[in-house]
Amino acid sequence: MSIPTDFLERLKEIAGPAYVITDGPDLEPYAIDWRKLFPGRPACVVRPSSSALVARIVQACHESEIALVPQGGNTGLAGGAVPDASGRQIVLSLNRMAAIRNIDPVGMTIEAEAGCILKVAQDAAAAAGRMLPISLAAEGSATIGGVVAANAGGVNVLRYGMSRNLVLGLEVVLPDGTIANGLRRLRKDNAGYDWKQLFIGSEGTLGIVTAAVLRLLPRPKHSVTALLAVADPDAALRLLELVQDELGDQISAFELISQTSFQLVAKHAGLKPPIAEGEWFVLIEAASSLAGLREAAEAMLGTAFEREIALDGVIAESGAQAAQLWALREHVTESEAKEGKSVKHDVSVPLTSVPRFLVEAGQALASGAPGTRVNAFGHLGDGNIHYNVLVEAGHDAASINRIVHDVVAAHGGSISAEHGIGQYRVGELERYRSGPELEIARKIKRAVDPQGLLNPGKVLLP
Ligand code: FAD
Ligand code: MLT
Ligand code: ZN
Repeated sequence: MSIPTDFLERLKEIAGPAYVITDGPDLEPYAIDWRKLFPGRPACVVRPSSSALVARIVQACHESEIALVPQGGNTGLAGGAVPDASGRQIVLSLNRMAAIRNIDPVGMTIEAEAGCILKVAQDAAAAAGRMLPISLAAEGSATIGGVVAANAGGVNVLRYGMSRNLVLGLEVVLPDGTIANGLRRLRKDNAGYDWKQLFIGSEGTLGIVTAAVLRLLPRPKHSVTALLAVADPDAALRLLELVQDELGDQISAFELISQTSFQLVAKHAGLKPPIAEGEWFVLIEAASSLAGLREAAEAMLGTAFEREIALDGVIAESGAQAAQLWALREHVTESEAKEGKSVKHDVSVPLTSVPRFLVEAGQALASGAPGTRVNAFGHLGDGNIHYNVLVEAGHDAASINRIVHDVVAAHGGSISAEHGIGQYRVGELERYRSGPELEIARKIKRAVDPQGLLNPGKVLLP
């Protein structure tokens, strides 16, 4: 059964006919996820230009019992932003709502609409002498609404926390079309339940984020970026301890990268690390407004060599060199996609368990899925490893998930540290989260979205 024509006409009346796409090539980018794993068939894509129009569209869906899938930049890696293949779900794209409404450099806040591209918001904050520290390789396409709805992580979580830690206020359209306006810029607000937390990380299953107020930080005057080679993940952890001792709270990124990752980047992006080959690498960034950071970083590097924790290393001499080191890290995901099929895992385990996890997952795959290769990299400072398994025809993704996630569970870890559940991990969540925890989630979903119209089949099984 397809969507009634009069419903499509109603959407056109609300958003304007030019902003309701029902077929043709313009529909395609909205129908499939970034990884091209989940081809969907949207009944249409609707692109409203204001919160009031979003509210009217959601109200129309509520009245006609039509399911809708919110979409921002469509860079999500869990298939959360695309509809199913029924032809009965509509995509609600926020990409026309891209304004930055306000920047307050003294109060250190930015208010932006959901469709504002993350990089645009970062640049606007920088122009005001402030910093929006959410940073990820997809920042040129990911949107503020998507970042909030996914509770995105990225490379600066170690110092600034997940996106959740930076959200001060939210405007959300609820599943019946009501607008809940909590766009407050307050640092302290204990007036009742902090309801916005429910929507952060809910992956579009509870409400549509239409705007957010985010916290900004002082823009550090100095930064150092270093790339070090280490023998193994144990040495990387010892390095983390040393860096914490020497650079303390000035560390903003501590990224682990395997030799396989760099081989993929060399092959598909033509970029090579400027240090001797090793099995494992660590990319470190520290930033401060006070002088002396570079000297502290050089002393740390000296100690790392002295104690034989680092095998080789380089500190960037300029901003351009720092950008080159970061480009090596930022090209890993794209290069992996160019290499062929992979089964991604976005796992976290207690930090000190990371080396054991890597060994045990490798052993389990060698016996359970021979012929696979592992592309491991990620945010070691957060205990979050992207343990991506490169596969050939004949390898079974579901059994590879099971092998890796069982090792994660044995270490008390999580099957998604930052990318979320979407549709990719919805079955796995049922297996690895306890019954009472899943029941709390179902109760929340039933209470907020009793008709089950917002992003059905994502996060929780229907
Ligand atoms: P989308 O992909 O459009 O949507 C993501 C989810 O949020 C979907 O469930 C969607 O329904 C929902 N949603 C989107 N907008 C709204 C809204 N306004 N209201 C309600 N729900 C909404 N993620 C990380 O956490 N850390 C990383 O380091 C990282 N690196 C990445 C690198 C690459 C190369 C790529 C391709 C992706 C990476 N990601 C990373 C994943 C992705 O970029 C983030 O999850 C990002 O926050 C998604 O933003 P988006 O606007 O593209 O959202
Ligand atoms: C990253 O950190 O680059 C992305 O979150 C990782 C991925 O592609 O798995
Ligand atoms: Zn990541």
